[in-house]
Amino acid sequence: MDYLTFFLAILHVYRALCEEMFWDTTVKLAENMSLQCIYSSLDTLTQMEWFKINTTSRELIAIFSPIYGGVVKQPYTYRVYLLNSTAAPNDMTLYFHNASEADIGFYSCFLHTFPHGHWEKVIQVVASDSFEIAAPSNRHIVSEPGKNVTLTCQPAGKWPVQQVTWEKIQPHQIDILTICNLSQGKSYASKYQREIWSSCSQDMRSTFIIMPHVTASDSGLYRCCFKASTGDSETFVMRLTVTNGKTDNQYILFVAGGAVLLLLLVILITTIIAGNNYRNPNPTNQSSDGATEDVYVNYPAFSHRPKTRI
Ligand SMILES: *[C@@H]1O[C@H](CO)[C@@H](O)[C@H](O)[C@H]1NC(C)=O
Ligand SMILES: *[C@@H]1O[C@H](CO)[C@@H](O)[C@H](O)[C@H]1NC(C)=O
Ligand SMILES: *[C@@H]1O[C@H](CO)[C@@H](O)[C@H](O)[C@H]1NC(C)=O
Ligand SMILES: *[C@@H]1O[C@H](CO)[C@@H](O)[C@H](O)[C@H]1NC(C)=O
Ligand SMILES: *[C@@H]1O[C@H](CO)[C@@H](O)[C@H](O)[C@H]1NC(C)=O
Ligand SMILES: *[C@@H]1O[C@H](CO)[C@@H](O)[C@H](O)[C@H]1NC(C)=O
Repeated sequence: MDYLTFFLAILHVYRALCEEMFWDTTVKLAENMSLQCIYSSLDTLTQMEWFKINTTSRELIAIFSPIYGGVVKQPYTYRVYLLNSTAAPNDMTLYFHNASEADIGFYSCFLHTFPHGHWEKVIQVVASDSFEIAAPSNRHIVSEPGKNVTLTCQPAGKWPVQQVTWEKIQPHQIDILTICNLSQGKSYASKYQREIWSSCSQDMRSTFIIMPHVTASDSGLYRCCFKASTGDSETFVMRLTVTNGKTDNQYILFVAGGAVLLLLLVILITTIIAGNNYRNPNPTNQSSDGATEDVYVNYPAFSHRPKTRI
């Protein structure tokens, strides 16, 4: 009998470990942290709940209804809050103002909507030392507001890819944008608050995401990751900068400064050459060539963007 209990206990632990939790967003634990949950569909929200979850149970943290208002449950009452729903009707973000190690774990933002039914976003809170975003970006894309931006990735390895993931990386949070399982040819679109277009098919050799009508808030780091069933993986990071409508002032200053400097140099060199010519009306060697080169030596500041491998 004892043996059987022991065996069942082992089986239970094993099951718990195997039932992997899936999440949409990873947040770094911080004293003041926010678990972002922004619902962007036009459906009508009828009720919303925040849970702390694990593989076996759900603990209710807060419940909100557009008719009856919101209630935060014990022991969270004085530790979390939601925004005033009148001011931000689609923003269900849960704010912690004194979070601790005990708050590490999984959370669910669960919405009941009409007519589409339920919608859930799962957020994982991790300790700050297990939150890694080691991400030197190897490409830089610059765009303007309103454009449709396409980010692409191609693995260098020749192994068969099984899964492709796209993420947006911020210092405190990583959002999964899309996951494509190539053997199924199906993708999981995450609950990221903006529209993302992508494709997922069994024989694709490269991947892309399209962000329609980008705004300055889309600026940041994006990461794509290819995984093989063998465990091989490859990751690419790129930085997107969406200029804030008007051209960047600093850049103009930089270019204008460079132009003025160049002009001064040209004037200086012309003066020197003119002076030389005045003293020596029949110059034999091309001292002007060397001078011209000096002018261009000041240019490389414009072309130090990292090389990319697409
Ligand atoms: C958290 O927020 C409180 C109140 O706004 C502030 O006093 C405190 O310094 C913040 N803590 C951190 C680590 O930022
Ligand atoms: C899940 O959470 C419940 C209540 O918070 C807790 O009693 C239980 O031990 C947890 N289970 C696991 C596997 O962590
Ligand atoms: C929410 O905001 C509205 C208007 O901005 C205000 O009338 C109402 O009192 C606020 N509710 C709470 C709970 O702060
Ligand atoms: C924050 O939590 C710690 C322990 O978890 C507690 O001692 C402290 O009083 C709390 N501070 C506030 C402002 O609630
Ligand atoms: C962005 O894509 C949409 C839908 O395909 C299209 O209607 C629109 O013209 C595109 N905008 C730009 C700036 O390319
Ligand atoms: C992809 O789908 C296949 C077939 O359903 C499944 O066996 C495999 O575990 C999935 N891969 C991942 C990484 O989820």
